Order: sequence, then structure tokens, then C-alpha cells
Amino acid sequence: MLLIVLLLVVIGDVVSISSPITPFTAYRYSTELEKGMADLWWTVDNGAKDITFELHMKTTGWIALGISPAGGMTGADIGVGWVDSAGKVYFQDRYASDFFKPAMDNTTENWLALRGRESNGWTAIQFKRLLDTCDPMDVEIKSGTNVIIYAYGLTDPSVGDISYHQNRRGSRMIPLQSYVNPPTENKFADLDYFEFRLNNSIVPSDDTTYYCKVYKAPTGYSRKRHAIAHKTMIDSDNVDMVHHLVLYECDRTVEFDDNNLAEGVCDDHYKELSRCLANTGVIWAVGGDEIVEFPEEAGYPVGGDFHIKYYVIEIRYDNPKLTPNRRDNTGIRFYLGKEHRQYDLGYLTFGTSINALALTIPPKVAQFTVDSYCPKEFTEVLYFFDPKLC
Ligand SMILES: *[C@@H]1O[C@H](CO)[C@@H](O)[C@H](O)[C@H]1NC(C)=O
Ligand SMILES: *[C@@H]1O[C@H](CO)[C@@H](O)[C@H](O)[C@H]1NC(C)=O
Repeated sequence: MLLIVLLLVVIGDVVSISSPITPFTAYRYSTELEKGMADLWWTVDNGAKDITFELHMKTTGWIALGISPAGGMTGADIGVGWVDSAGKVYFQDRYASDFFKPAMDNTTENWLALRGRESNGWTAIQFKRLLDTCDPMDVEIKSGTNVIIYAYGLTDPSVGDISYHQNRRGSRMIPLQSYVNPPTENKFADLDYFEFRLNNSIVPSDDTTYYCKVYKAPTGYSRKRHAIAHKTMIDSDNVDMVHHLVLYECDRTVEFDDNNLAEGVCDDHYKELSRCLANTGVIWAVGGDEIVEFPEEAGYPVGGDFHIKYYVIEIRYDNPKLTPNRRDNTGIRFYLGKEHRQYDLGYLTFGTSINALALTIPPKVAQFTVDSYCPKEFTEVLYFFDPKLC
């Protein structure tokens, strides 16, 4: 069954940063683009409709950041900058019409350098751009997932032109602007929380793995509490491998040995987990928001007589290089509100099966509709609206 779900988006204020240079100002978001090599900070100003970036890379040559329509250089809108030995900052707006060296954007200059400096072998440049420049040689920065490409050179351009970067480049899918603008984690800093999280689990050296682990609902809350937000904690060592994760609610009838809860490749536990892997709760995929806050009138119940006693976290890993012995501590944290809210929040999963009639994307249409019917046998057991019904 393919689940059709709402994914709510943005990246948090997490992450390990390796740059020895302190950013010029405070930013809303940051991420390590490449371990020990490249860090990026940014803030979106919705009033001014622009975005301010600060890019740090471990080189004293040129550094570049691009917005790519599809992940590669083709069609990418790229800002290239460097700081010369006198400390002067240079910045260029470029456009890559194909795989080759990006040409200067000769229509308008939309990437604007603000400040820059070099220190300890790193280069830091702060620059800004309009979200939508309306320039055919720029790529609009849309809400949701953006494909960021980056590259650097070992030296400053000598005659004003950049040298080929060979393999000194990379790309990341990052939601630069959230659909829903969730709050930062600070908002929940003084709240109780509980976590369902892997504990140094070994990621199999297979191309694709669905990994499952059962968690018992926290038992320490004799009175029902309400979770008001959750945070997906992708292990910062494994952002390259975690493709998505799903938290499932087990059916209330399951019984497990609490001292021996299943963990491992999902297929190896398929039977045990058969009454767990149906109703989804939290879902995160690359590009999704780390923090999700619930509406203020509702909270997700935990403790007391709440009927869900077990959960399963299923993580899909992509490990195309078949790297052995990578350890993972990815998981989910739920923040508990201080007050009880008016309503219990529940998850309802809609889906359609994967077959040629259910989900076929017709060619050359701007949009299309997928119909899916919910049999009455299903709605008859919607007991979570009223536990007395079953
Ligand atoms: C800009 O550069 C492109 C590609 O190099 C060229 O085809 C185009 O004519 C130039 N436009 C202007 C306004 O110079
Ligand atoms: C993680 O595993 C270690 C070693 O098995 C164990 O000592 C520790 O209690 C575990 N931590 C949690 C939170 O389960």
C-alpha cells in the first residue's frame, strides 16, 4: 500500500558546524553542507522577499553556491565569490546553460555580496538574493525543497575567470523556505519530552534497507499528557543515508515481550509487526520539516488510559556505496505541553494501492486526480474517535 500523506517542511537550528569563522550575524537556519568542509546559514525575509546566505568553505580560493532546478549544473543559478589577499570581496552571478563552466549572467546581477573574510584557511561570504528575480537566468527559490549545489576552487580566479572545480563540489536537497514556518526548537526548550530513537544501530551494507524497531509507549505518565510538537532527529552522521522514516502506531491488541522488542531489517520481523505497520503517525522524508507543532486546540495523547501501547519506527536507508558498520541514532522526540488541551489528536491514514489503475501519472497534463474509496469495513472500525464503540 502506498500511503498518501501530508509532509510538513523545514530544517531546524541543529547541526554540527565546522567552520572556525563566526558568522557575521545570527541566522534562522544553518546546516553543514559537507562534513569539515562547507557550512551554510540562511534567513528568509518574507517582507523583502529575499534570502540572505552565509557560506563558509575550507579554501582560500573561490566558493560557489547554486540553486539547481534538477540537481545538476544544467539550468542552475550560481553565485561565485572570493576574498582577495587585501580582504576585498568579489561576487558574480552566473548561469549554467549546460554541463560546462557557468557563464556570467549577462541579464541582471541578482546575487549581491554583503561581506566576506578569510581566516584559518576558510572563506566566509555573506550574500543575498531575491526569492524570485523574474530573471530567465536565475532560478526561483520556491517554498519546499530546493536543490542546492556548491563547489569551490583552490585559488582565486586569476584573470577573473573560475578554474574547473573537478570533484570539489556537491549537492544537497534543502527546504530553504518552509511551507508552514514551524517554530524553532527553543520554543519547547523547557518542556518534558520523550524519544523513540535508535541506539547505535548498525545500518546494513545493502543498497536499500527498511529498518524497524519497536518502542513501548512511555509508562511514566499515570495521567494522560498531550504532546504538542515533535522533532525528527536525523543522526547528523547519516544525513546522506536516511531517505525517510515513519512512526507507526501498533494496534491496541498487540502484545510484546518488553525485554525483547523487535529490531532489525523489517522483512525479518514482518509477522511480529503485522499489527503495527498500518496506521502511520509521524512521517518525515528528505526536505521535510524537523519540527512539527500541533494546532493549539489539540495534543497527541500519551500515558493515562491512552490505548496505543507500542510504536514502530521504520527507517529507509539508502546505502549505495554499501558502507559497512555505519551506526545510527536517528529518532523522534515528542514535547509534552504543560496544559491538557481541549482535544486528543489522532492520525488517520488514507491510501491507495500501487497498481496501474491506482497511481498512473498521465503524460503531458498539468494536473490529475487520483480517486480512492474507503470501504465501510474500514470506517466501521474508526474506534479512535470514540473508544467506547469497540
Ligand atoms: C547573454 O549570454 C548568452 C549566452 O552566452 C547569449 O546567448 C546572449 O545573447 C547574451 N545576452 C545579452 C543581453 O548579452
Ligand atoms: C543504548 O545501548 C547501550 C549499550 O547496549 C545501553 O547501555 C544503553 O542503556 C542504551 N541506551 C538506551 C537509551 O536505551
